[in-house]
Amino acid sequence: MRTWSSSLALGCLIAPIPTLARTIGARKTESTLCATDSRQLVNNGSDIWTYQAYKSSNVTPPYLSINRTGEDLASGLLFIGQEDSEGSGVESVAPFIISDDNELVWGGPTGESSNFRQQYWGKKSVITFWTGTGEAAYGADVGRGWGEVQIYDDSYKLIKSVCLQLNLTMPTGTTTTCDADVHESTITEDNTMLVTAYNTSQADLTSLGGPSDGWVYDSIAVEIDLRTNEPVFIWSPLAHVDVNLTHYAYTGSNQTDPFDWFHMNSIQKWGDHYLINSRHLWRTFLVNRQGEIVWYIDGQDGGDFGSIPTNGNFSWQHMARIRNTSTSNEVLLSWFANDLDATTATNPSKGTTLRLTLPPNAKNPPILETDFYDHEYPVSSAAEGSFTPLDNGNTLMGYGDEPYIKEYGPSGDVRWSAQYADKNLGQSYRVYKQEWSATPYYRPSLVVATASSEADTLSQCAGTSSTLRGYVSWNGATDVEKYEVYVGESASSLKSLGEIEKKGFETEFSLPAGTKVVQVGAVQSGRVVRKSDVVRV
Ligand SMILES: *[C@@H]1O[C@H](CO)[C@@H](O)[C@H](O)[C@H]1NC(C)=O
Ligand SMILES: *[C@@H]1O[C@H](CO)[C@@H](O)[C@H](O)[C@H]1NC(C)=O
Ligand SMILES: *[C@@H]1O[C@H](CO)[C@@H](O)[C@H](O)[C@H]1NC(C)=O
Ligand SMILES: *[C@@H]1O[C@H](CO)[C@@H](O)[C@H](O)[C@H]1NC(C)=O
Ligand SMILES: *[C@@H]1O[C@H](CO)[C@@H](O)[C@H](O)[C@H]1NC(C)=O
Ligand SMILES: *[C@@H]1O[C@H](CO)[C@@H](O)[C@H](O)[C@H]1NC(C)=O
Ligand SMILES: *[C@@H]1O[C@H](CO)[C@@H](O)[C@H](O)[C@H]1NC(C)=O
Ligand SMILES: *[C@@H]1O[C@H](CO)[C@@H](O)[C@H](O)[C@H]1NC(C)=O
Repeated sequence: MRTWSSSLALGCLIAPIPTLARTIGARKTESTLCATDSRQLVNNGSDIWTYQAYKSSNVTPPYLSINRTGEDLASGLLFIGQEDSEGSGVESVAPFIISDDNELVWGGPTGESSNFRQQYWGKKSVITFWTGTGEAAYGADVGRGWGEVQIYDDSYKLIKSVCLQLNLTMPTGTTTTCDADVHESTITEDNTMLVTAYNTSQADLTSLGGPSDGWVYDSIAVEIDLRTNEPVFIWSPLAHVDVNLTHYAYTGSNQTDPFDWFHMNSIQKWGDHYLINSRHLWRTFLVNRQGEIVWYIDGQDGGDFGSIPTNGNFSWQHMARIRNTSTSNEVLLSWFANDLDATTATNPSKGTTLRLTLPPNAKNPPILETDFYDHEYPVSSAAEGSFTPLDNGNTLMGYGDEPYIKEYGPSGDVRWSAQYADKNLGQSYRVYKQEWSATPYYRPSLVVATASSEADTLSQCAGTSSTLRGYVSWNGATDVEKYEVYVGESASSLKSLGEIEKKGFETEFSLPAGTKVVQVGAVQSGRVVRKSDVVRV
């Protein structure tokens, strides 16, 4: 195994000498309390992407390979959820919050997480993700799943698991405990959550060359009341749309392997309507509370809206979202337009936005607003993906089952690109860049160890007399400014040694030789808000 230290700047802080002398009776010139980012980058030469490793935490996020132009980026943190698949290409499949300059903020529980993001539940800022439950809990890598949506508060307490139970008919040989699918988990202003759910059903497939009682997936839209966990709205594509409108090739099906003709992958509540996206029909529908289709747009012929402008046509698309405009008779509608369904295809996936006139009128067809893609390093994503506007006018694209993330400027110029696994390996269903502020309910984590000389980046300023080092991290904390370091002979005689600046996810600092016990306190807004355990050396 090859490891090397990141080459981040070494920082030294002058600790008040009197304090030092008083507390540990130092006689030598150990007047500086040095600190550095102690992240290790690990690459063992396999197809596991280079990852970040720490001493005080066993979290191992990917080390993003980043290109940037230096132009303004939106503020916020990246939310990357990951799925497993054969050869995930990453050391650890887990949700991660990482800054756009590669500093880990939070590593979540190991396991698949889909649609990992920040959102508001009422006035509360929370993080949410889907995770599989039971034996039928496939991840998004195979296109669908059955599980629950977890809601964590801004101290990382799991405050709710949304377990929808619809008594779905399941593919032969599988069972489910919670029925929400991987694709959507949006909390609405009405204290409800929108989820997709994949039911197994039968349909007349004769117009596709199949039997009159063929097995299909009915990917339904569900709105769940978060107080009662009961569905308040259910919409079944099978009850409203002809199966033979699909672009997905029918090659036979049975109850073990139902035909996924519609493949619902996004739902947005818009007023009292629902915007529902079908990957396999290349269509997006607006449905009212009675379940009637009010209008639809088709990625090739435009549907109710008239002809799609050049370069605006789309297929196999994800994440349909209405963006309001200032006038009431038009909206912007955006998609992550995969535009391919086979990993062998090479056309670029795009961030597509159309300006639509409402109500639809073929005489005023859609106008192309964006068809963003990286012209220099195009990415072709056959599945999953996201396209979201950012506060400063930039947009963010997550490339789904291709391990890339790109931030575009307002005119479609690529300002920041990252890769987090080898091509065709790692995947994140969507990627968000969002504001998030959190103070964990648990303590900062502290480890004290003796530095081996070759890996000791603090030796120049710590002096050669002590090789004792502390390593502190606080998984998920966003607002730590510094750590106060306490040392002593015993837990009851701890005295402050001074402060160290926080350096990245994990801060390494030098400790005087002979130190018996150590503790650190995380400083936020100038005061210690939480202390680590007391560590005996
Ligand atoms: C590299 O790390 C991966 C993941 O920990 C492990 O499965 C693999 O065996 C390692 N390969 C080598 C050559 O050490
Ligand atoms: C669940 O569905 C099965 C088959 O459709 C049915 O026999 C059963 O009564 C249902 N159970 C509940 C609790 O609705
Ligand atoms: C699921 O499909 C079965 C038929 O296979 C049907 O009886 C049931 O009502 C469906 N459930 C929902 C929630 O649509
Ligand atoms: C598609 O299915 C509908 C409803 O069953 C039927 O009316 C229509 O003729 C079919 N279209 C084709 C091309 O077979
Ligand atoms: C079910 O259908 C799939 C797809 O057509 C096929 O590959 C598989 O062999 C079938 N399985 C059974 C048990 O018939
Ligand atoms: C757009 O505006 C309408 C009417 O004001 C509102 O109901 C809806 O929630 C808004 N939608 C979005 C996506 O902002
Ligand atoms: C857009 O339409 C053109 C012309 O019909 C076609 O060649 C192209 O494949 C379409 N692109 C997408 C992404 O559907
Ligand atoms: C970054 O730029 C290099 C060329 O300098 C290119 O090979 C690589 O693919 C780019 N990475 C991303 C994530 O776009």
